[in-house]
Amino acid sequence: MNFDRRVFLQSGAAALVALLAESAVGAPRPASPAMLGFSPVPVTLHDGLTLPAEYAAEILYPWGAPTGIIGAMPAFAPDGSNSAADQALQAGMHHDGMHFFPLGTDGRRGLLVMNHEYTDERWLHTDGVDRWTAAKVRKSLHAMGVSVIEIERAADGWRQVLPSRFARRIHGATPMRIAGPVAGTPWLRTAADPEGTRVLGTFANCAMGVTPWGTYLSCEENFHGYFGGPKQAAAQATPAQRRYGTVAGTQWVEYWRFDERFDLSKHPNEPNRFGWVVEIDPFDPRSTPVKRTALGRKRQESATCRLARDGRVAVYMGDDAAFEYIYKFVSRDTVRPGQDAAARAANRTLLDHGTLYVARYDADGRGRWLELTHGRGGIDAANGFADQAQVLLHARLAADVVGGTKMDRPEWIAVHPQTGEVYVTLTNNILRGEPGQPAADAANPRERNVSGGILRWREDEGDAASLGFAWDHFVLAGDPAQPGAGARYPQADADAFGSPDGLHFDSGGLLWVQTDMGSTQRNGSDTQAPMGNNQLLCADPASGRIRRFLVGPNGCEITGCVLTPDRRTLFVNVQHPAERVDAATGALLPAWPDGATPVSTRPRSATVVVRRRDGGIVGS
Ligand code: FEO
Ligand code: CA
Ligand code: CA
Repeated sequence: MNFDRRVFLQSGAAALVALLAESAVGAPRPASPAMLGFSPVPVTLHDGLTLPAEYAAEILYPWGAPTGIIGAMPAFAPDGSNSAADQALQAGMHHDGMHFFPLGTDGRRGLLVMNHEYTDERWLHTDGVDRWTAAKVRKSLHAMGVSVIEIERAADGWRQVLPSRFARRIHGATPMRIAGPVAGTPWLRTAADPEGTRVLGTFANCAMGVTPWGTYLSCEENFHGYFGGPKQAAAQATPAQRRYGTVAGTQWVEYWRFDERFDLSKHPNEPNRFGWVVEIDPFDPRSTPVKRTALGRKRQESATCRLARDGRVAVYMGDDAAFEYIYKFVSRDTVRPGQDAAARAANRTLLDHGTLYVARYDADGRGRWLELTHGRGGIDAANGFADQAQVLLHARLAADVVGGTKMDRPEWIAVHPQTGEVYVTLTNNILRGEPGQPAADAANPRERNVSGGILRWREDEGDAASLGFAWDHFVLAGDPAQPGAGARYPQADADAFGSPDGLHFDSGGLLWVQTDMGSTQRNGSDTQAPMGNNQLLCADPASGRIRRFLVGPNGCEITGCVLTPDRRTLFVNVQHPAERVDAATGALLPAWPDGATPVSTRPRSATVVVRRRDGGIVGS
């Protein structure tokens, strides 16, 4: 039993109450002895997919593949010559968070809904972007957002249904609605939308969530990089704009030169309309996506839902930046049970009313949810908050006031389906403990934290609406052989990894961990053995075992993973694989994904389908 574990178990009466209460939640950490029996794969820099021999993988939906919209299925042009209009009907780039929604009850059909996080302009356009144009800005916007595809399982594996009445691309120019307390306020009004309730598009869609009523939640993460302007306009940036990174001259792309709404000097409120959780009904391709402002604005990572005991819904969220926070929203109203159209209609404003909290992780293994409500805890006009709309718009600043714990880049959050225990990846934070930066603390115990880890907590009385919890570290990742690395795994023989990012619990309670290690970690350094290409590991919280299941091709990160409810199929996204170059001539060679058609020298992010060759449970 490691130190954290003891603290977790011995942290006072409240924790004991919580531990006693867990038996009411269900069997805690159910044993799953048959799990993780697969042949784990080694650390490798092999430029392809590496899987246990008893598993097979297929490419399903690479960037540029037709989404399947009826009457509009342009083929992928491997030279980057698809138009902006084509791209709005094809798989976006940089696949990320993903969920499988079954259609029917026989397990043979479903909707696969996934995010497209960002673009690599080198590959997106025939001639890159040394010279930006308005058409390139449009194509770039169309390459982000969300795909809804229909898939079916045939005798020889899963296939995309082409065309499908469900197929849909939501992208950076799709009309959508803004709802909740910030909608309609002056902070969201623009020249194009004087009401402050309508916005074009979603982009930078990273992690995700699923509501109890069967809608998909897409999270807008690094939205700030798309807004820009002339450098001299940077002087006008407010402290809030600096905190959110929307500062002219620091943009990642030159959208602002060709699409005026991205020019911070002309439309300072436009970025206030991004950084939200977007709710999408995947079963109704005509539905309007809605940005839910009650959940607060941040670089959204995850919107993971769990029902509270009284039937309200809690939504767990991270904010992926160094020293940012972990949040929870609890709805005001109770959820109408069910996932049919009637339930979705009855719950259509459920995420518009509720309370937002930020997490504080105390050194004794206990934690508190601190309310972010105007007029409470010092969140008031004296501290710069005129009303609740400003609190939600600048949730980071409100969290500062009440004293949330500044975390090591919170990424994905997953809830154990049986115990209700909540797991979050803290991917890394090399600034921790640097001069002028926050020092290590109990929850973020390593300075210059290069490897990250997984922290977890258990809400008091097993209730997602509780305001107290007990926490510990599940993993402090990194190279355990390296003295001073501070790595710690629940079992000594765990397969090691670094920079955990994506996180998914399957219906059986296995935790699937996706990594996003930088090249130093992948290739090793003078202080660390190579950890290989980014990978997907399977952890069993019941036993503490962790085994490496899949390793991706060079340059990629693995992000976005979901198992079907029967656990016989795993879908996983490979994002930004590297190009392949002929060492002798420097010429581009056919790139990953191997076997995708048409063959392309432009690497393509893609969804991969993994099955056991004998059709058995994945991870067993
Ligand atoms: Fe999109 Fe925080 O990774
Ligand atoms: Ca991520
Ligand atoms: Ca990451």
